[in-house]
Amino acid sequence: MSKYLPTYLSKEDNLSAEEAQAIHDQTGRVLEANVVPFLAKAQRIMGSAFLEWRGEGKYILTPDGTKFFDCVGAGGVFGLGFAHPDIVEAVTLQARRGGLATRAGFIPGQAELAEKLLSLTPKSLQYVYYGNSGTEAVEAAIKMARVATGKKKLIGTHLGYHGMSVATISLSGIGMWRDGIGPYLEGTQLVTHGSLAALEEVVDSDTAAVVLEPIQWASGCKVVDKDYFKGVKALCEKHGAMLILDEVQTGLGRTGKVFAMEHWDVEPDLLCVGKILSGGMVPISAVVYNQRVHKGERMRPLFNNSSFGGNPLACAAGITTLNLLSDRYFQRAEKLGDLLGESFEEIKSKFPEHVAGYHGLGLMRCLEFSNPLYGAVFAEWLRRDESIITAAMGHIPQFVRISPPFICEDEDIVALKESCLRVIGELAKYTPQELFSDFNKTLQKVQVELAKPIEDQEGALA
Ligand SMILES: Cc1ncc(COP(=O)(O)O)c(C=O)c1O
Repeated sequence: MSKYLPTYLSKEDNLSAEEAQAIHDQTGRVLEANVVPFLAKAQRIMGSAFLEWRGEGKYILTPDGTKFFDCVGAGGVFGLGFAHPDIVEAVTLQARRGGLATRAGFIPGQAELAEKLLSLTPKSLQYVYYGNSGTEAVEAAIKMARVATGKKKLIGTHLGYHGMSVATISLSGIGMWRDGIGPYLEGTQLVTHGSLAALEEVVDSDTAAVVLEPIQWASGCKVVDKDYFKGVKALCEKHGAMLILDEVQTGLGRTGKVFAMEHWDVEPDLLCVGKILSGGMVPISAVVYNQRVHKGERMRPLFNNSSFGGNPLACAAGITTLNLLSDRYFQRAEKLGDLLGESFEEIKSKFPEHVAGYHGLGLMRCLEFSNPLYGAVFAEWLRRDESIITAAMGHIPQFVRISPPFICEDEDIVALKESCLRVIGELAKYTPQELFSDFNKTLQKVQVELAKPIEDQEGALA
């Protein structure tokens, strides 16, 4: 074994409890001091920190063998689970041929991936641009829309999410990420997702594009009216604006259809994909777009460009992912998604006082609790007592996001439902006041620690 390998990779998959604890503590110390101080500190004090040592199928494992069933998957990245053997094989083969590319020559993976992607998207979408992240895909899409239309105005949505760059944040409407980074990209404006009337007020002849997620996963997964997207498309056409659909999260099976837009029978001018396209192995994103968009950029080679976008490793992962999805997992995702919907219906009917409802489609769902505290406590207890990872949203904690991988068996969804029922049953034994006082004690500890001067904080490196 090379002496240059990372220390952690030179260790075994399974370690003694003592060694596992030592690595956990050392990792936590550095992350808290130098990388993600707030989050690492809060997780340590709340007792929710764990070491992501390795991933295997639907599980994340710590070095001492503790297993968590992953129902978040970095927002849908791990639809095929962790370390899918076919994707490992593809990426390993490509790594042996030279990982990335000079970009001076043709890259066969880019062509094969484009053919596969285009076979899954509407016929009107004929061109593909590759990026490395969802953010880059949306950035590229809005640049293309501006160049193609010669117009400036871009419309996003309140509570929407399209990425972390200044342009994508300008089109996103979640305060904890958006606040304080202004001035926002000139010409951007936000409206309420799902309201055609709101869009009608702002879309005009200056509008380059309307940028929409089919379902806002970061904001509760509410499913908009059947007619909404058709209305949006008609409005865009009337004013010569482009429709950009951000399917970074919803795309490639997550909502039970290959693309979520099929639920509304609408075709965008530009379609952004990412997350699961990586196969959980090498980041990649893509924008698939039509001829009208291409006309604007065709005389501008490298107008959108990146050192790493569409690299051979990522294309190998992407192609294998699409092959696996088409062979079996699109179908499985649809079936499992129906099962998850039925399970949530049962959960709601058994705990009508605690569960206000559920939202989303397919394997992209949110449980909505009647009290924000229930959501936060539910997600935490589900991890602590049932070893299941979900996510309560910081800005709307009554919504808990649950997105299991497509590789689940039916029994996993049944077991997930039973775990949810047990945790809600436990939670229902307490009044909100009791839960609040318990939760608040931990929260206060976090606040006291965070309020200390930086130099006095535990974990800060001298
Ligand atoms: C709908 C949507 N768009 C864009 C992004 C940004 O993707 P990335 O984190 O890969 O930049 C995300 C990420 O969660 C997303 O959910």
